[in-house]
This record gives sequence, C-alpha cells and structure tokens, in this order.
Amino acid sequence: MKSAAVVVAGLLALSAYYVYLPLPSTVSQPWRLMLLDAAFRVAQETCYLAHFLGFRHHLRTLNFVTGALDKLNVQSSDKVKITDTQFDGIEVRVYEPSTRGGEKTLKRSVVYIHGGGWALASARGGYYNNLCLIMAESLDAVIVSIEYRLVPDFHFPVQFDDVLRATKHFMRPEVLARYSVDPSRVAISGDSAGGNLAAAVCQEITQEENITRRFKLQALVYPVLQPLDFNTPSYQQNEVTAVLPRFIMVRFWIDYFSGSYDFVHPMVVNNHTALDVSQAGPFREHLDWTFLLPSRFRKNYQPVTPAAGQAEIIQAMPALLDVRAAPLLAEREVFRLQPKTYILTCEIDVLRDDGLMYAKRLEKAGVEVTVDHFEDCFHGCMIFTSWPTNFSAGHRTRDSYIKWLSQNL
Ligand SMILES: *[C@@H]1O[C@H](CO)[C@@H](O)[C@H](O)[C@H]1NC(C)=O
Ligand SMILES: *[C@@H]1O[C@H](CO)[C@@H](O)[C@H](O)[C@H]1NC(C)=O
Ligand SMILES: *[C@@H]1O[C@H](CO)[C@@H](O)[C@H](O)[C@H]1NC(C)=O
Repeated sequence: MKSAAVVVAGLLALSAYYVYLPLPSTVSQPWRLMLLDAAFRVAQETCYLAHFLGFRHHLRTLNFVTGALDKLNVQSSDKVKITDTQFDGIEVRVYEPSTRGGEKTLKRSVVYIHGGGWALASARGGYYNNLCLIMAESLDAVIVSIEYRLVPDFHFPVQFDDVLRATKHFMRPEVLARYSVDPSRVAISGDSAGGNLAAAVCQEITQEENITRRFKLQALVYPVLQPLDFNTPSYQQNEVTAVLPRFIMVRFWIDYFSGSYDFVHPMVVNNHTALDVSQAGPFREHLDWTFLLPSRFRKNYQPVTPAAGQAEIIQAMPALLDVRAAPLLAEREVFRLQPKTYILTCEIDVLRDDGLMYAKRLEKAGVEVTVDHFEDCFHGCMIFTSWPTNFSAGHRTRDSYIKWLSQNL
C-alpha cells in the first residue's frame, strides 16, 4: 500500500514536471496550453525514439498518429458542397457555398494552404477541413484547400511546386468560371508552413509575365519566412515555449531540405550565417531586425552573429538561400509587386518576428499591410477551436482573420 502510494506520488510528480512549462504570465488558458504541449511533446518524442531505434521516419509516424485523431472530427454542412478533386494533378479539396437567394452571382475565393512544418496535417483532416468550412460559410466564398505532398516522402521544392501548380490551374479563366468565382476577388492564404508557401507562391505569381489574373490579397497567419537567423528576439524569447520550441522549428527546416540533424546545434547559434560565411552576406540586410522591428518587440535582445561559423551548412543545403523557401530574402522589387497583405502574429511564437519583418519590408516597398498581433496567443492557435483542443485564442484569432478577409476581399 505504502509503496504504491510512493509510486503514484512519484508518477504524479514526474508528470507534473513533464507537463509544467514556464509560460509568460500574459498567456490565456495556460494550463490547457501546457497539457496540449505535453501531449504533443510525448507524441513527438515517442516517434523520435522509434526513429532512433530504426523504425520509420519520426515525422511519418507522427503524421500518421496525429492524422488518425484529426480524422475523427471532420465536419460537414448542408450549406457547403465539399469536393475532392485534382488541379493539374495536385489533390485539392474545394468548398462551394450554396448560392444565396438562388441568383448566380460571382463569388469571392481563397486559396488556402495548411500548416504543419511541411510534414504534418492534411486538408482533409478535421482541423483544416473545419476551418475552411467556416471560411466558406462566413465569407460566402469558394475555398480551395491544397493537399500538397509532405516531408519526409517529398522535400523542397516539391511542396512549393505542388502549391504553385494547383494555384495556377485554379487561376485559369475557364476554371474560375466553372466555380463561379470573381477573378478580381481571389486571395491566397495559409498558416505557419502554409503561410510560407502562400507568400512564396504569391511572389512567384506576381513575377510571371503571362499570368493576367493576380491575387487581390494575401493573408499570412504566423508564417515561417526565413531560416537564416534563429536568434531574432522572438526566437530568443520563445526558445523553449509551447507547441513550437526553437530546435523543433530548426529540425522542420532541415527536414524540408533533406539535410542532416548534425546541423541543428550549429544553426541554433547562427553558425550557418556567421560573418565568415560569405554566401549569407548579401541577405543580411533583408532580415536586419535591429532596423526592421519596432523597439517594443526588440526589447533588450542582442543580435547573434558569430565571427566564425560553418560554411559547409549552406553548401549542404543551398536552399537555405532560395527565395522559394525563404520569401523574406526576396529583393525590394519583388516586394513592390505584392498585393495588399494581412499578417497575423502571436507573442508566444518563435515566428513572430518573421511575420513582423515581412510586414515592415512590404510597407517599405509601398504595399498596404495590416499586422494583427495577439499578445496572449501562441503559435498554431487558430486551428484549436473545438474539443479537446478548444482555446479562446483559437476563436479570437480565427474570428479576426475571417473578419479582415470579409472586409477586404
Ligand atoms: C509568355 O507567352 C509568350 C507568348 O505566348 C511565350 O512565347 C512565352 O514563352 C511565355 N513566357 C513565359 C514565361 O511563360
Ligand atoms: C560554431 O562554429 C565554430 C567555428 O567553426 C565552432 O567552434 C563551434 O563549435 C560551432 N558551434 C556549434 C554549436 O556547433
Ligand atoms: C470553446 O471555446 C469558446 C471560446 O473560449 C467558447 O465560447 C465555447 O463555448 C467553447 N466550446 C466548447 C465546446 O467547449
């Protein structure tokens, strides 16, 4: 009896230790977030251990497990027709709201690209299906959600190319007409790694001469935009925070480029962009946050720029400098061509400054930008809007995002 009590107490202490995570006092619903984070960490670490023991790639296992749970909560609506089809060979899920009042007017439309570190989640799982369904209903818009192929079966630039191909197909006049979409009212949008793909594809399409149809807007939700500085103030501040700690984001980048995890530690200290790595030189000013971030976000953080680093990292993964992977590295002329932009950022997010720097560079290039910052919210929150991961942060960010689209698209 006594020993059982000791074991139980020990297990409780251990799980409390495991679940407890120091979070900023400003975060809303901290205990719920700690539980979500702990559950996700257990899943990630179990898959990682299995990977280490020679089982399948940890991201494939993790996506299988989280995907199975995600499929349990797929909603539908009698007001929206959902179709799985292909656009130029790429899987997409299309949401068409039924025409209100019977008249056939042209609708607005959003091309949506889901997040998940280029490796996780699905347009057909509950999280993103339910988001797109609500967008279709509340905006009375046609939503195209792209089921691009994932890491670790496919690597950069496959994800970019899939999204580009599906998007270009959809933007063809006869395809827009088939879905009764108004060609002058189409937006591109995505969250996290999907925001990365949305921004990169938007840049690409604005530069292609032969495309006459362009996006009216882009809406980026806590996007990933650069892999050169893992010591921006938000990376330093949120190094070990919930859902997306810094080393996990670095691993997602490495997996995207099919690189080696030996580079995780050197990249965390910015060795890949040290002053003696000449290839990185030309890009430095594009992400100089001492200049691009307002002081309330810079706080007292100092830039991390080692004098000597490891040039072999960029040699092994040249895509680190490719604008299709890192839209923040684009030249000013490309920024000038971008449409009106919405960027949602969260304070409890290593990627906050990726979004804020992108906003500043767009603004400097003359593009109209809305930054929608949430002081008490965390990375990934927008999809967490129902049991067992129901967060007020999810409802508030989603409502604000949809409201902006509704007023501007
Ligand atoms: C644009 O269209 C012209 C004429 O149809 C063609 O010759 C050219 O190769 C196209 N350019 C691109 C970049 O596709
Ligand atoms: C960063 O690079 C320096 C110089 O090559 C090296 O001495 C140091 O060990 C590296 N740091 C890490 C964490 O790999
Ligand atoms: C989910 O959270 C929202 C906002 O906090 C709340 O209004 C709603 O009632 C919750 N729904 C459930 C099923 O708990």
